[in-house]
Amino acid sequence: MSRLLRVELSGCWLDKYGITREQFADLSERLEAARDETALTDVALLAAGDVPPEKQPLDGHFYLLPEQLLNDYQVSRAESELGKILTTAKAIQSQSDAVVVLGIGGSYMGSRAIMEACCEPFFNEWPVEQRGGRPRVYFEGNSLDNDATQALLSLLNDQRWSIVVISKSGGTLETAVALRVFLEALQERHPDEQASRLVPITGQGGKLDELSRQLGCESIFRVPEGVGGRFSVLSSVGLLPAACMGVDIVELLRGAAAMNETFRTSPAVDNPVLQYVGAVHLLEQHQKIDIRVLSVWSKAFESAGLWYDQLLAESLGKVELGATPVTAVNTRDLHSRAQQHQEGRRNKVIVNVTTDSIRTDRITIPTQETDPDELNQLAGKSMPELLQAAFQGTNKALREAGRPVIDIQLESTDAFSLGQYFQMLMLATVVEGRLLGLNPYGQPGVEAYKTNMKTILGIE
Ligand code: PA5
Repeated sequence: MSRLLRVELSGCWLDKYGITREQFADLSERLEAARDETALTDVALLAAGDVPPEKQPLDGHFYLLPEQLLNDYQVSRAESELGKILTTAKAIQSQSDAVVVLGIGGSYMGSRAIMEACCEPFFNEWPVEQRGGRPRVYFEGNSLDNDATQALLSLLNDQRWSIVVISKSGGTLETAVALRVFLEALQERHPDEQASRLVPITGQGGKLDELSRQLGCESIFRVPEGVGGRFSVLSSVGLLPAACMGVDIVELLRGAAAMNETFRTSPAVDNPVLQYVGAVHLLEQHQKIDIRVLSVWSKAFESAGLWYDQLLAESLGKVELGATPVTAVNTRDLHSRAQQHQEGRRNKVIVNVTTDSIRTDRITIPTQETDPDELNQLAGKSMPELLQAAFQGTNKALREAGRPVIDIQLESTDAFSLGQYFQMLMLATVVEGRLLGLNPYGQPGVEAYKTNMKTILGIE
């Protein structure tokens, strides 16, 4: 099997409730024009520093990041951004049993997705040897949850720990409040070590930048210019936490660069990004299908699904447009959501995310002498075989009911595959936004709650 992610649209070519190949062919020109706008025009505008008002904000620099970071690493090694991330991660690993990643929205969802996909399940529960000497990783500053915060502070009490705090603006209240609370605890636990134990990732000139300087932080990483929060997973925002977990960040970027190459060079019909966008766009336009169920077939992909929920919702949920994302994990959610997907309103497309690969020994069903549960008929079959049967059975049932299905197949849950997945869906979101005629960057609607909250609290 090729290492490249594949998109299969056969579950969309349905006579009555799907779309036709002709419709896709008719859309191809617009898809390729939106691709060129993303890969050429936007990039050129950013490089020239001359973004016209109707295009602002333009956070399209995420497209260039994988190749730029890899090239820079090849040339400058330890002095490059990637080299510095790797050095800092090593220092954090050697001095910490635990790392607390503080951030919200795009500032943490990517690194949580990386941890779930690429690290051992139950990573934090394993003894340090099984974690390869890496620290446990916790995520906070992503809510205002008193009890969760207290519990984490208690857990950290007798450990050696560090903080990676991520906020592009440097002023997000949830993250700032968490930093104040965790920093006080850090200073108590490790007096005078904040300079090495607090690593900020932030934009230049914000409150967090200022605080980090005052505290004398040894390493401060930047969210690159022209990269928005939810498009930042392949910058230091996702890469530093990933490197702390021991994930191969070079492979993550190589996967993303491979996706860029396909995106740039393949015609719509063979281009995973454009195939996916073409199908979901046509389903929305022709069949009013505006609920997008990302149906992941491995627990390891749940947070990668939630990462896409945020990307899609915050990017395209504007001017009363944009599909509503939902993540389902199978087979778990076959017992909670499948009824609705099968027989509910015809407003959903099921987007399966699958991989055939497993990382551990196959579990096979043992024979049992008395066979009280009558499972001997399955004896010798493996868990992946059962999962495959559930997947095929679900797809068949959906197709027979005229429910559109798209399959995204990843080679595995490793860093290379995940890098492709991230880049594919970030590119897809931008192209889809361009087709809808809206700006996928920025999130003006989020300001309303912040303003109200500040008024209620009586703060500036
Ligand atoms: O995608 C986005 O830009 C947002 O989800 C932000 O990541 C989120 O609001 C956090 O912002 P900041 O990194 O400035 O704290």
